[in-house]
Amino acid sequence: MHLYILGFMGSGKTTLFKKWQSQYEGLAFDFDHELARRLGLRPDELGQWIEENGWDDFRTKESELLVETLKKGEGLYCLGGGTFSKENIEKFNSFPKAETLWLNTPVEICWDRVKEDRNRPLVKQGKDEFFSLYKARESQYSKSKYQLSGENNLPEWEEFWKNYVINPSL
Ligand code: S3P
Repeated sequence: MHLYILGFMGSGKTTLFKKWQSQYEGLAFDFDHELARRLGLRPDELGQWIEENGWDDFRTKESELLVETLKKGEGLYCLGGGTFSKENIEKFNSFPKAETLWLNTPVEICWDRVKEDRNRPLVKQGKDEFFSLYKARESQYSKSKYQLSGENNLPEWEEFWKNYVINPSL
């Protein structure tokens, strides 16, 4: 299995990942958690690290981690909201066995879930910025191979997982 969960901040990626991670025995991690671990930080300290060190540095580390996992050829991964960028989508194209699943959650729901989270630098910029970033990214996310609704639709999630585990290329 080689599956990446992607979607906007607050789309429910971590919730979904935790559900599946517990059923998946093997290589599995959340990109933000893994990046924080490698930097010697707690996950909730990553936002501050980004603010202090800059986005370029963060995006470079994120892309390097992506290439590392793509080369492994297996695993279940939860991407950060910005990992599925135009540039990184091209990297996916060279690894056709790496499949992508977009948790397509309406931006209003995403905002409601994360608006109080002071550890996410892109949330601190406010609602208008958050909504326009979503608009700018939506067409990128839609290049994902699969998509699911992120409105805690458990039966839909379970159905996908069951079918996916049996047949990774549905
Ligand atoms: C980001 C989303 C965050 C984190 C970083 C940048 C983004 O992850 O990677 O703050 O660009 O959308 P989550 O989507 O898990 O919040």
